[in-house]
Amino acid sequence: MCGIVGYVGFRSAPELLLDGLTRLEYRGYDSAGIAVQRDSEIGIRKKVGRVEELRKLVAANPVRGSIGIGHTRWATHGATTDVNSHPHVGGNGEVVLVHNGVIENYAKLKEQLQGLGYVFRTATDSEVVAHLIAHHLEEQIKLGEDPESVSTYMKAVEVSLKKLKGTYGLAILFRDLPNLILVARAGSPLVIGVGKGEHFIASDASPLAGYTDEVVYLADHEMAVITADHVDLHRRDEGRVKMSVQTINQVSTDLDLGKFDHYMLKEIYEQPESIENCLRGRIDDDSATSKFGGLNIDPQELRLVDRIVLTACGTSWHAGLVGEYLIEEFARIPVEVEYASELRYRNPPLTERTMVFAITQSGETADTLAAMRECKRKGHKSLAICNVVGSTIAREADGGIYLHAGPEIGVASTKAFTSQVTALSLLALYLGRMRHMSYHAGKRMISQLRDMPDTIRRTLGCHDSVREISAKYAGYDNFLYLGRLYNFPVALEGALKLKEISYIHAEGYPAAEMKHGPIALVDEETPSVFVIPRGAIYPKIMSNLEEIKARRGKVIAIACEGDHRIADLADDVIYVPEVEDFLQPLVTSIPLQLLAYHIALERGCNVDRPRNLAKSVTVE
Ligand code: F6R
Repeated sequence: MCGIVGYVGFRSAPELLLDGLTRLEYRGYDSAGIAVQRDSEIGIRKKVGRVEELRKLVAANPVRGSIGIGHTRWATHGATTDVNSHPHVGGNGEVVLVHNGVIENYAKLKEQLQGLGYVFRTATDSEVVAHLIAHHLEEQIKLGEDPESVSTYMKAVEVSLKKLKGTYGLAILFRDLPNLILVARAGSPLVIGVGKGEHFIASDASPLAGYTDEVVYLADHEMAVITADHVDLHRRDEGRVKMSVQTINQVSTDLDLGKFDHYMLKEIYEQPESIENCLRGRIDDDSATSKFGGLNIDPQELRLVDRIVLTACGTSWHAGLVGEYLIEEFARIPVEVEYASELRYRNPPLTERTMVFAITQSGETADTLAAMRECKRKGHKSLAICNVVGSTIAREADGGIYLHAGPEIGVASTKAFTSQVTALSLLALYLGRMRHMSYHAGKRMISQLRDMPDTIRRTLGCHDSVREISAKYAGYDNFLYLGRLYNFPVALEGALKLKEISYIHAEGYPAAEMKHGPIALVDEETPSVFVIPRGAIYPKIMSNLEEIKARRGKVIAIACEGDHRIADLADDVIYVPEVEDFLQPLVTSIPLQLLAYHIALERGCNVDRPRNLAKSVTVE
């Protein structure tokens, strides 16, 4: 979480920093701030709220210079106040920094620094880093190091960083060493954009679009001194290292809402195209299978895989559950779906024939990254299903599948979910065709997948009825979401969507499980959303629905077009096209996304920037 930007060059830094922060706002939007340096003067502006608020502050009280750093915050330590916003100042103003990450041993370091006379102005862990660097700078100078030499500053930073436990991405300005920014990374991403007579810094490459395609991804325990003309890269305990500049093919993030009121709605409507993009170039008609450019794994080796672990968080974890059903059904390989936050600290007995897939939209989720690294450490082939090209997980994985869903800006994940499910369907087809699946079954699956973009277009036709139903139910404070088989993960995902953007309590369950406890919640005040398309166990789930109705529970059903029986039983019905069981999540998740969206709007919530959340969860 938190986004960092920086600039050193010939342009006016404040505008550039503010634009960069706007692009990184999905990483946190509790508060924002910038520090701009001109000679030995560093002007700081920071403010609680969105980057827009900071922009107003800077317009009213400008800062000038062509070197600066900025930050958009998702609070971890210390309330969301102006004073706790970044940048933070160390010593008597000789160090100014922005930090992304968590310093786990900050309390102990703070105590030590207070003992040395350092006065803390904030309740953050980040201020500790600023004072610690200021302290070691003073120590270095006392030891006789040259106060005007960059190496003195680097030593002070190096000694300080060695004392930190936790994660950091840091960008630092020094009052007495104008014209440079020092950056360092351990666990939190940082990218340097290389320009002509200018350099950029950002937490991910998105703010660099339109300025440069040349980037350097900082690795853990690397730090760099960046001036307008030069980058000096160092690795802990190794000294200076050669930097590797990569060219990325990045289109400027489309921040234009077009005809839509919110990014979430725009992204819901982008799903026919995002699914099409995920399928593009990945079908091998002749062999009735799928193909992937970047798996980097020999088919022979893949045939030996006898277990798959899918690891992820949140919505991506729900996609993983759909993946479990898909891969087990079509490839007959046992699959486990692990919360990344659990897997990273568990020690499950994985065999050498286990393959691990990390599923992630952002490619930066701290727990998913840590779980993947842990599996790699133990020698398991670790691949990624990822949306953001060049993200940390995409770069560190042994191979993988890009979603090609385009930027997802709304905090509530929508199109990434359906793209993940599409990628997992392709994977199930690929693995299935290597094992038991017949040519004809492969052909059938391909033709059904190919129809999906059009089917999703038709599904979006339910929008008006969802809008009406949302108005009717927006006043309820508790919801149950129920589905079975492929629609059980959809029920979980529907409940999560409602919770995160409308702050309504919602629980997702396998529909038959509710008899084992949750049915006690059912009354006239707790509506149930039943995902009940025609399919293998339609009559079974119909009985579950009747059980709810018998207890006077209200029911909103997501059912197949032409299902008239359901209309007699449910209070309200949202109709979707009928598809094969394995494709149902792609269809049935859409009305649930729209339902959450409209209920949130009815309740006056900010759908794109829900409280307490951030798009990219880079702390554990
Ligand atoms: C919910 C949502 C989150 C993310 C989760 C993982 O709408 O977006 O639950 O799915 O934080 O993020 P990624 O997929 O970026 O690893």
